[in-house]
Amino acid sequence: MTALLELDGVCAGYGGVPVVRGVDLAVQAGQLVALLGPNGAGKTTTLLTVSGLVAPTAGTIRVLGDEVPNRARRAAVGRRARAGLAHVPEDRSLFPGLTVAEHLTLGTGWREGRAAVARGVELFPALDELRDRRAGLLSGGEQQMLAIARALVSHPEVVMVDELSLGLAPRIVADLLAVLRGVADDEGTGFLLVEQHVAMVLDVADHAVVLNRGEVRLSAPAAELRDDAEVLATAYLG
Ligand SMILES: Nc1ncnc2c1ncn2[C@@H]1O[C@H](COP(=O)(O)OP(=O)(O)OP(=O)(O)O)[C@@H](O)[C@H]1O
Ligand SMILES: [Mg+2]
Repeated sequence: MTALLELDGVCAGYGGVPVVRGVDLAVQAGQLVALLGPNGAGKTTTLLTVSGLVAPTAGTIRVLGDEVPNRARRAAVGRRARAGLAHVPEDRSLFPGLTVAEHLTLGTGWREGRAAVARGVELFPALDELRDRRAGLLSGGEQQMLAIARALVSHPEVVMVDELSLGLAPRIVADLLAVLRGVADDEGTGFLLVEQHVAMVLDVADHAVVLNRGEVRLSAPAAELRDDAEVLATAYLG
């Protein structure tokens, strides 16, 4: 089976300083993969490299089996998005002055726009009565729902979410993760989730990869790590 997303020996950094070093990982259809690790480990940089915002210095990245060239960053971002890759960055990238419905319909025609809003509300029923509210007035949890809904309305094959839980109550994080699990199960979408709430994400994930100082220290089925806090702690310590 071809992985939806595959990284093979990926290296990347900033201004010649290596930050991600030889990362291998794969996301299969219907899989939820957790990307874990301490602050500064290179998790965000890994996602930025996959989406094409940071150019890799070595290794290959395949989206749906297609190798994407390393040069031409802007072109790479568009090409990866069209290939079915969605990225929800840490800052959520919402427009404070636009409404919930406007976010869901950005870049779509009228007919597709209605379908997009229906899809967003189906995923997160709480967004229904917030359709006409500006994003800047939403709560943190509602903003994250919108950011994820916006990524999912185009039916991407694989979705990367950076720090889904940032600033949110654990209860809300669990609800959001449950929605993603459902989309993975029902539609075969693959997810790569950077997460600090380790126990919560391991509860729903299929596989976990721990990065430390830019290198993969541990890659194992989530079920194995749920009961083995020691293995996980060792990987975090490096
Ligand atoms: N734009 C940048 N320019 C230079 N160095 C950067 C830049 N962004 C990140 N770094 C450095 O790269 C390293 C990895 O950062 P990255 O943001 O990928 O880590 P992270 O695992 O996402 O951490 P966190 O859990 O704190 O979000 C850090 O040492 C960071 O200081
Ligand atoms: Mg980060």
